[in-house]
Amino acid sequence: MKDSQPKLSADEWDEINFPRPDVQEFDRVVERAISRRGFLGGVLAFGSGAAVMGAAALRGSTALARQADRFAFDQIAAQTDHTVHVPQGYVWDVLMRWGDPLFSDAPAFDPETGVPTEGSDRVFGENTDGMELFNIGGHEVLVVNSEYTNNDINLPHTEDGLPASADDVLRLQNMQGVSVVEIAEGEAGWQVVVDSPFNRRIHHNTEMLLDGPAAGHDLLKTEADPTGTASLGTFNNCGAGRTPWGTYLTCEENFNGYFGATGALPSDEKIAAGYARYGINETGFDYNYHAFDPRFDVSVNPNEPHRAGYIVEIDPADPQSVPVKHTALGRFKHENAACVLAPDGRVVVYMGDDERGEFIYKWLSRDVYVPGGDTSTLLVEGQLYVARFNDDLTGEWVALTQAATGMDAAEIAIFTRSAASAVGATTMDRPEWVAVNPIAVEAYCCLTNNSRRGAVNDDGTPRTNAGGDEMSVNAPNPRATNDFGQIVRWRPHGDNHAANTFDWDLYVMAGNPAVHADTPYAGTANINAGNLFNSPDGMQIDTTGLIWIQTDGDDSNEGDFAGMGNNQMLAGDPVTGEIRRFLTGPFGSEVTGLTWSSDRRTMFVGIQHPAAPFPDGEDSLPRSSIVTVKRSDNGLVG
Ligand code: FEO
Ligand code: CA
Ligand code: CA
Repeated sequence: MKDSQPKLSADEWDEINFPRPDVQEFDRVVERAISRRGFLGGVLAFGSGAAVMGAAALRGSTALARQADRFAFDQIAAQTDHTVHVPQGYVWDVLMRWGDPLFSDAPAFDPETGVPTEGSDRVFGENTDGMELFNIGGHEVLVVNSEYTNNDINLPHTEDGLPASADDVLRLQNMQGVSVVEIAEGEAGWQVVVDSPFNRRIHHNTEMLLDGPAAGHDLLKTEADPTGTASLGTFNNCGAGRTPWGTYLTCEENFNGYFGATGALPSDEKIAAGYARYGINETGFDYNYHAFDPRFDVSVNPNEPHRAGYIVEIDPADPQSVPVKHTALGRFKHENAACVLAPDGRVVVYMGDDERGEFIYKWLSRDVYVPGGDTSTLLVEGQLYVARFNDDLTGEWVALTQAATGMDAAEIAIFTRSAASAVGATTMDRPEWVAVNPIAVEAYCCLTNNSRRGAVNDDGTPRTNAGGDEMSVNAPNPRATNDFGQIVRWRPHGDNHAANTFDWDLYVMAGNPAVHADTPYAGTANINAGNLFNSPDGMQIDTTGLIWIQTDGDDSNEGDFAGMGNNQMLAGDPVTGEIRRFLTGPFGSEVTGLTWSSDRRTMFVGIQHPAAPFPDGEDSLPRSSIVTVKRSDNGLVG
């Protein structure tokens, strides 16, 4: 069996291809970060025993529902092994693995060769990520993203994982996208309902529609689609969201990596500038689609990348429905989409753009949601905003209008990053998932890490994001060379998510107090020897207001990361700030994706790109999997 270490993640790929400079004014920046303790007051209690920030920092908290210990478990220790651990009193099981059949005519998974191309669109996809569960007429229907592929594992017949034929490319295209799958709980636990009429695979060649301001624009037209309104496939489906009207939102993140060029890159100035900002180049991430499928060859189809990078809506109740790409919500490396209703019924969607120094966005619908009413305009007509965080712990949502950006509505939708740069949005440390608290008017965003924050080039000039916006330390991203990450939280003024202004603080800065005592790299006071973690990424808040935090970080358990072990899932109390480790994933994996059964007695947790032997033993290729977690007494878990 070949070495089963996962291939490079998109983040790692980016780091290697765009390495940070050797020269950094490290000491200077640390000093500045610590000096910020003053204006942040008790919020950043670096290395002190002071009460953690929480309600004290955000005046007028409405999150004080329960002051007592709200954790129903004892924290578990960090782990470095190849399996899943949960607290005493809880049990876990595997629900579904990459390659498990969704239909009875699907090929069986071969432990050595994986999934053959024929039928690879009839099985559960690779690299499970964001997911949501829908109860449709009493049926439990799980909708799950398959973010990317681990080519050396998914194409084990290739030397180095580089797709070498159209057949290889088709296999990868089939195993990514979205799986819609009915599941049911019986005597043997939760199982896939094979051949359920709800079961469906959506992949890189599935027909979909484009709507919103960019639909029909010249930049979206291709030879195959001269209307610019119909595209094939959804790409790099990372986090997810759910609308109040029962549809699923899948979020296209590192879409740029699928494109390459056999000839010259487009010379058109606007297109070339967009390619530079979004990272589209001759090679992509070695999916090698462009060598065998001209749709992905930008020297042949320069506009094809403009048709990816969106929020895509899928109706899980109708297997015949055509997914819709909503260009109004902007084109960037979408992490997830956290929906909430404003008091007047307008729809708010919070979204992060996961790249170093990119931004946090908010969508506000023009129309109000009425249960049972027309929802067709709610993700089409409205206003997109981007976040500016001020040093005084206030912030504002800046509308991306023509007047503010100098761009028209279609350009704002296609080149959203440039529009946000034009209004001076705050560069963030890689915004990952946003989660909205259902019992308090507040939202949280994981800022996973940013190795280039506060760094300088060889010539002494500060590092910037891909758009040239400066990335020196700022209030919500207060540490240079930030390898640990933090979670920012905001509370909209007037307890109204439609408001243009908010107060904010940092819920936590991860760190390592044993290695970096009395510096910002120790983390905030709610980090201790028992709950060490780095790189918060996935996040959901359950019906009780408990924050579930998943990590996608360095699992070497050495140096800065000593004592952190494998990637994990923790739970945080929004009021006291206490954080406890709940679950550890197998070595090599990222823990990502979380949802609950309708009765709230089962959690579904995603285990992405584990190393062998998870879950089928040393003699099998490793398989990304969804696991169930229940209480032994079948009590509520969220
Ligand atoms: Fe797909 Fe930013 O994680
Ligand atoms: Ca993520
Ligand atoms: Ca990540």
